[in-house]
Amino acid sequence: MDYKILLPESEIPKRWYNVLPDLPQPLSPPLHPGTHQPIGPEALTAIFPMGLIEQEVSPKNWIDIPEPVLDIYRLYRPTPLVRARRLEAAIGTKARIYYKNESLSPAGSHKPNTAIAQAYFNKKEGVRRMTTETGAGQWGTALAFACRMFGLACTVYMVRCSYEQKPYRGIMIRAYGAEVFASPSDKTVFGRKMLAEDPTCSGSLGVAISEAIEDAATHDDTKYSLGSVLNHVLLHQTVTGLETKAQLKLAGEKADVVIGCVGGGSNFAGIMLPFVPNKLAGEKIRFLAIEPEACPTLTRGEYRYDFGDVACSTPLLKMYTLGHGFFPPPIHAGGLRYHGDAPILCHLVHHGLVEAKAYHQTEVFESARLFLETEGFLAAPETAHAIKGAIDEAKNAPEGKVIVFLYSGHGLLDLGAYDAYLRGDLSDFSYPDEKIKECLQACPVVKAG
Ligand SMILES: Cc1ncc(COP(=O)(O)O)c(C=O)c1O
Repeated sequence: MDYKILLPESEIPKRWYNVLPDLPQPLSPPLHPGTHQPIGPEALTAIFPMGLIEQEVSPKNWIDIPEPVLDIYRLYRPTPLVRARRLEAAIGTKARIYYKNESLSPAGSHKPNTAIAQAYFNKKEGVRRMTTETGAGQWGTALAFACRMFGLACTVYMVRCSYEQKPYRGIMIRAYGAEVFASPSDKTVFGRKMLAEDPTCSGSLGVAISEAIEDAATHDDTKYSLGSVLNHVLLHQTVTGLETKAQLKLAGEKADVVIGCVGGGSNFAGIMLPFVPNKLAGEKIRFLAIEPEACPTLTRGEYRYDFGDVACSTPLLKMYTLGHGFFPPPIHAGGLRYHGDAPILCHLVHHGLVEAKAYHQTEVFESARLFLETEGFLAAPETAHAIKGAIDEAKNAPEGKVIVFLYSGHGLLDLGAYDAYLRGDLSDFSYPDEKIKECLQACPVVKAG
């Protein structure tokens, strides 16, 4: 009758799982934005260290986690897998619901799993400063923490609407010793251009990415870091899925469905990818991605090549996209406001291995409230999407169905969002199809894509 399934520190995974060699078909390569030809690793060296570029394209199934990374992981890993018995009782379900609690990391989310690894590989190659974007502020906090652990400077471009909605995230980032600017900012050429066009621009992850890349590309001692989407980020996040597999085994359970919220795809991929070989071997296991109706990338986007940022400075990635110029409305799940998604995740959705579902923010906050009232934890608005997905799966579930979801972060610095919800001030946004079509028209036309 345990609530928590715990692993000893000695069972922190020593290797990350790389799904690339196991994919049923090869992943479409990133393309040069000008020539539309596949790019090699050398094209990425201006902004990423070689250690991470090698991981991005590695054909190996398993990649050793360096000891200094494990050493920082030990601050909070392994995280508990928790049986949500009180939530089950409140729903009246016959299913068993488990959640993997990544909110217990120093930064309060799953993000340090990759931030620590990225800071380590940058430090190893002599980088002095890292730049990044952040939506909700969780990623910026995680990278600021990781840079502090390895003695690196850190600059964070935070999407303006989140910067204003969540001042405490900015303070936490600064407390770790990093600098943080509201994006669009006057610190970059691209930011100044955006502000000149619209001084009230609320920003987007795509804009903040452009600013962070420009900053890194124009400073020799600086590299850029992305908190989601890329293969190496998903790779680092597989520590959560590997631990979950070991914990389910301890509990004598087999997952029937694995659920996560999706912004760029890293937390969901982290818990789900290590189960892909089971599915390919014929096990009946479902993977369910949950996204906001206000940014419905997987459910209403197109699968095609697009830029990762608004300035069109990144390589083209084959993914579900709403168009790189898509400005999602300022919903409270700031970390889910991204026009694209991880190519690995999109590939799995496209090939029918992963299902996707979208919800409105009001119903999502209602689920977070039920979780708070039963399990006691206040979830990040992003995480609340996964909770809603799990609750819906549990309703009318057959006896004994095992539902596992990733609890990606706490909402202790999202109280403004909860205040709006409790006062009844949340509104739901749905994008008209014509608006999505209009944004998609700006996507590059790639013959092979
Ligand atoms: C708590 C939390 N969950 C989920 C996400 C979504 O990102 P990803 O899909 O890469 O896990 C974010 C992003 O900022 C986040 O802060």
